[in-house]
Amino acid sequence: MITITKVGVIGSGIMGSQIVAHLANAGLDVVLLDMVPEGAAQRDQLALQALERMKKANPAVLTHPRNIKRITIGNIEDDIELLKSCQWIVEAVVEDIEVKRTLYKKIDRVRRPNSIVSSNTSTIPVKALVEGMTKPFQQDFIITHFFNPPRYMPLLEMVTTNRNRKEIEAEMEEFAEKILGKGVVHCKDTPGFIANRIGSFWMTLALRKAIEMDISVEVADAVLSKPFGVPKTGVFGLMDLVGIDLMPKIAKSLLEYLPDNDHFHRVYENFPLVTNMIETGYIGRKGKGGFYRLHTDGDIKEKEAVNLQTGEYAPAKKVNMEIIDQAKKNVRLLLTSDEKASRFAYEVMIPTLAYASRLVPEAADSIDAIDKAMRLGYNWKWGPFQLIDKLSTDTQSGAAWLAEQCTLLGMAVPENISAVGTGHFYHDEGRDIMVFSGPEQYHVQPVPDYGWTLADKKRGAKPLLKNGSASLWDVGDGVVCLEFTSKMNSLDPMVLELIQKSIALVKDQQYKGLIIGNDSDNFCVGANIGVLLFTANVAAWKMVDDVIKQGQSTYQSLKYAPFPVVTAASGMALGGGCEMLLHSDAAVVHMETYTGLVEVGVGIIPGWGGCTEMLVRHQKMRLKEQSTAAALGRMFSRISLVKTVNMMPAITKVFEYIATAKVSTSAEEAKEMGILRDSDKIVMNRQHVLAEAKAKCLALAPNYKAPEPDTLSLPGKTARTALHMGIQQFERRGKATPHDVVVSKALAYVLSGGDTDITKQLSEQQVLDLERAAFLELIQTPASLARLEHMLDVGKPLRN
Ligand code: NAI
Repeated sequence: MITITKVGVIGSGIMGSQIVAHLANAGLDVVLLDMVPEGAAQRDQLALQALERMKKANPAVLTHPRNIKRITIGNIEDDIELLKSCQWIVEAVVEDIEVKRTLYKKIDRVRRPNSIVSSNTSTIPVKALVEGMTKPFQQDFIITHFFNPPRYMPLLEMVTTNRNRKEIEAEMEEFAEKILGKGVVHCKDTPGFIANRIGSFWMTLALRKAIEMDISVEVADAVLSKPFGVPKTGVFGLMDLVGIDLMPKIAKSLLEYLPDNDHFHRVYENFPLVTNMIETGYIGRKGKGGFYRLHTDGDIKEKEAVNLQTGEYAPAKKVNMEIIDQAKKNVRLLLTSDEKASRFAYEVMIPTLAYASRLVPEAADSIDAIDKAMRLGYNWKWGPFQLIDKLSTDTQSGAAWLAEQCTLLGMAVPENISAVGTGHFYHDEGRDIMVFSGPEQYHVQPVPDYGWTLADKKRGAKPLLKNGSASLWDVGDGVVCLEFTSKMNSLDPMVLELIQKSIALVKDQQYKGLIIGNDSDNFCVGANIGVLLFTANVAAWKMVDDVIKQGQSTYQSLKYAPFPVVTAASGMALGGGCEMLLHSDAAVVHMETYTGLVEVGVGIIPGWGGCTEMLVRHQKMRLKEQSTAAALGRMFSRISLVKTVNMMPAITKVFEYIATAKVSTSAEEAKEMGILRDSDKIVMNRQHVLAEAKAKCLALAPNYKAPEPDTLSLPGKTARTALHMGIQQFERRGKATPHDVVVSKALAYVLSGGDTDITKQLSEQQVLDLERAAFLELIQTPASLARLEHMLDVGKPLRN
């Protein structure tokens, strides 16, 4: 792989500053330069301001505050020489070709030979950017188009041309995928590349049709979102999110560079409503509001939507349309219904799908590049060609139907649509996905061995085990993968049962190890509290006790299994999901993993070993800290400083995390919290998590020995007294509610070791028993039941 350790970024605006943060999160050193503003007292002012914004950004752009130390700032007049040490230079200045080209000349004078220079331009093709530049510059210049926000949006559109050195395309793809965690889509050198070209067409047409057909923004967003696998922001919510002021800028550039016969010219119009909104500061969420705004009247906050005809705001209406529910069965039902909203969806989606299908081979070589770009760049669940296939019925392919609709609308049928004819763009063949690549031609969609999904392993295979909430799959080379299939991947007795059966199967059939992971956005939201509330409501306390026991013994079986267990997480890993990370031999997680023990929010404490395991982890961390201090002490004074571990700081930390239901904002933070070990692997690319977990499992398998049980030395009452003082202070300051106090005291009892003292060693089972007893006591209180009920009803914790 290409060696890039230091990157220069020029432009510290919206994109430049966030790209810098992402590069620093990926462990790279970064130089950030911007221009010197006229008359500025501080010549690095713009880059300095960007650093300040990075620290405060919400959602956070840094995965850990310390990453900012990797960034060196300066300005392009005084510090351009800093680029000499960079292997890659990213230009992210204003979308103005002259500004960019002037800058390239400066960069070319100082950059090191063979360093890669790339532009983050949204619309301008390479050939226009590099015209007249030196040959070496042209050989090293590409486009790397990040999507906003770069930390969270996985798409990276990459444009290389035949002017480039041959190896650049593959090398930069590998670097971007592995180190930056991006999903790379290769685009041809055409204006707007893929995602924004389709996205701009789609949004502009939706705006135009909504105005023409008098469709409200709420209805437009409802019909254009869920039925098509589009995020619920739809079109208008999305424009508010990205900034309405950006629309005319992108459109201007697209109109300038797209050929005259491109259909975008036909749909674009400068709508007075939008111009007026921009002029009056209604540019979306970053401004006073946009197509939606939040109207505040005292304590009351109300969402309002703009009337596209009058420009006036009125309370946003909830949209309940039967046709949207029916579209779940087949989205064609929505497009063919007589309702006005359906007609609107039809008039937007048919031309959009046709427009997208024309982009192969114009903007991309393959249809899956187009689909991937829309999935990763716009969060569509299905790309345009996948959507066309979804329009199929038993008797007619989606493409054949779309061809008919194009003709009805007076549009030429796109070549790909005619070519696929009565067939589909995708179909499964055994374990492969076949992708349409020309008349009667399909190719196998490649699956890299470092980036497979569980779906890739499941295709054409049968599970080894399965029940209503989980399944077990053979993922090759002697490794099995346990997948949750319950609602939101919550944990219930059936999941626990399948874990037990999986452990037995791995032992009996001599598999090498087990990974626990899935393809969902969220690894696991924790225990199914519906089941818990049900048993509590009928006062089936024995059953509750049994579930806790079953959970504890299952998690202990995972921890002490005679083979390696590796948890592969991303997104939320809460409560029981977090406990799974804690009980594995190793974890491989995506950087975007949000994990914590959040049980207090529903009036209970972690009961499946979360408290015990956090104590074990923090005891080890303390021991390590103390040994380091002792080693230093010996070095300087020849006296050993510590013989026994002082557990109080460890207990206080664990108490703080659990009592406040703290959730990590990244995997890096989860390490600091002790949920992940230093040795656990953080992966930047979500798609690589399972493959890395399997590799870790295989690495641990030879001569694997289960861990030895730990003992804990907990101080008992003295620790509890200290924790109680803290609780009282919180209560006095109004930061703890009455039931927070009850729950925190129960937690303090467990974490201090109950009625023990520092001279005694407690076994894990003894602490687990304390956990179970506290859990049972809390669940029987009306206030905890009220918390559980509230969470199920409104999805938020009750502060009682
Ligand atoms: P911005 O307006 O937030 O920042 C532009 C930056 O360029 C500022 O830091 C400014 O000081 C600097 N700049 C202006 N004139 C300069 C000059 N003569 N020399 C050096 N620096 C100069 O713009 P934004 O949104 O960050 O866009 C930057 C690039 O990224 C553009 O090419 C844009 O098309 C592209 N882009 C923007 C996205 C977005 O959502 N904003 C998304 C993807 C790409």
